Amino acid sequence: MEFSEVLRRRRMVRHYTVQPLEDAVVERIVASALRAPSAGFTQGWAFLVLTEPAERQRFWEFVPARVERTPSMPDAPLVIVPMAHKKAYLERYAEPDKGWTDRDENRWPAPYWHIDTGMAALAVLLTAVDEGLGACFFGIMPEQLDGFRAEFGIPAEFAPIGAITVGYPAPGQPPARFEHRRRPLGDVVHRGFWGNRW
Ligand SMILES: Cc1cc2nc3c(=O)[nH]c(=O)nc-3n(C[C@H](O)[C@H](O)[C@H](O)COP(=O)(O)O)c2cc1C
Repeated sequence: MEFSEVLRRRRMVRHYTVQPLEDAVVERIVASALRAPSAGFTQGWAFLVLTEPAERQRFWEFVPARVERTPSMPDAPLVIVPMAHKKAYLERYAEPDKGWTDRDENRWPAPYWHIDTGMAALAVLLTAVDEGLGACFFGIMPEQLDGFRAEFGIPAEFAPIGAITVGYPAPGQPPARFEHRRRPLGDVVHRGFWGNRW
């Protein structure tokens, strides 16, 4: 698929069929995350990948049904939880070529650990579209995180930034509700000087 088509088609898919994914497809989707850029090439991320029905069922215990998801979200055959590893960044940037040996977090113009893990998540979302699938990024609520970590043995220093479902979109997806809210270029782009609208 042309890249422009992948980008145009990408939207959050929240209704899935139970159709499983081939292992090779799962691997291509997961591996795409590792093509994302990362500050200092730190790659301070980790991914919990859940494909087995019993594993996925345990995951959905931490995503309340009424508010956070549609009834067929748990049918998605693949769940990926991208996690940011801040410590890896503090250590990488204390190396001689960077030199921030005090590991002071105030040096960071933005939390690159979250940015990079988000970039990896976007690679997953786009690769899912390229594979003819649908995907959705959604949050895991803070009050669920401790339980989620304990259930899957995730060390405290790894911070889940959310979760991604991937699968075959169910027929009759609802129309994009908020497309009319997509902000135009003139609203958000400042050309050459703040206030010079596109
Ligand atoms: C950081 C982030 C968090 C999001 N959290 C949720 C969420 O918790 N639940 C959900 O249904 N969608 C979530 N979304 C999806 C957005 O609602 C969606 O991207 C937005 O409405 C635009 O729609 P589109 O992605 O289909 O174009 C999230 C997206 C991002 C980037």
